[in-house]
Amino acid sequence: MTEPTILAIESSCDETSAAVIRGGKVLSNIIATQAVHEKYGGVVPELASRAHQQNIIPVVTEALNTANVTKNELSAVAFTRGPGLLGALLVGCSFAKSFALGLNIPLIDVNHMQAHILAHFIEDPKPNFPFLCLTVSGGHTQIVLVKDHLDMEIIGQTTDDAVGEAFDKTAKMLGLPYPGGPMLDKAAAQGNPKAFEFPVGNMPGYDYSFSGIKTSVLYFLRDRTKENPNFVQENINDICASVQHTLIKTLLKKVVQATKDLGIKEVAIAGGVSANSGLRAALQDYAKKYNWNVYIPAFQYCTDNAGMIAMAAHYQYLKGDFADQYASPDPRMKL
Ligand code: KG4
Ligand code: ZN
Repeated sequence: MTEPTILAIESSCDETSAAVIRGGKVLSNIIATQAVHEKYGGVVPELASRAHQQNIIPVVTEALNTANVTKNELSAVAFTRGPGLLGALLVGCSFAKSFALGLNIPLIDVNHMQAHILAHFIEDPKPNFPFLCLTVSGGHTQIVLVKDHLDMEIIGQTTDDAVGEAFDKTAKMLGLPYPGGPMLDKAAAQGNPKAFEFPVGNMPGYDYSFSGIKTSVLYFLRDRTKENPNFVQENINDICASVQHTLIKTLLKKVVQATKDLGIKEVAIAGGVSANSGLRAALQDYAKKYNWNVYIPAFQYCTDNAGMIAMAAHYQYLKGDFADQYASPDPRMKL
């Protein structure tokens, strides 16, 4: 068999991305970030769909050109089926279906959360099975037991907000521009993580709760600003560092428990929040302390990208796991 060459498309949220993979090697990964949402302080679903429609052809063309692959060399076309925004997913799904139909090649539907984890197989070092993956994004917070490329089990997850939301909403309360997570990360690097204390919800097992911290930050800011109207401006770095420290400590506490209970020392992080420098550094510290092998994706494969969709599609192709022309997006697709 010649090496499968797959075009993959990601359009679940506000990134339009296309990638080409050949024989499991990502040859191109083009990402168009939608600036249109900035002035609204968050992703506006209808605007995301329209921007995907504008971006998709140029992004796919660039992905093919960069990879030096013509469309006639493609073995399959893959797309993100979910989870994500319905209108945004529809653009990638419809495009992939027509492209595959026109070329008379198979279609592959990919789960976005599975793909975040499979981003670890794009570059070396690759984790060994079974491993635990803390998947942290704007919509999800999960501890996943990864038994094989396509065999994964969620053992813990948030019962309310995702940790990415906690980052973004705190950043918004502090007046930081969208997207909040990376801005908060930058400010935190200059601050004292022990300056302030914030309580976090303690859930049973490996589950999380991140809605409480938002409220505690809100009341904390309200009370301190009453005493000193310039409190936020004067303490922004310390507030960011303290909130970030609390979130990271909460995330990793459950991971430590899971590694002990399951006797697993291979630990990975994935998803947009795995770009957070505090989380990346903390994971390295925990690795030393607990004797873990840790896996941290390159920045370009943390936040949404089609490279990871291509990686998932590669394994699905090898397994013969294809979709058909009746495929439709699944905004709440489960792992
Ligand atoms: O995986 P992703 O790109 O999209 C979703 O599938 O949700 O994750 C986006 C989330 C956002 O909440 C964003 O603020 C957060 O990842 N994020 C960060 C950082 N970079 C992205 N949060 C904290 N620190 C960062 N450096
Ligand atoms: Zn994502």
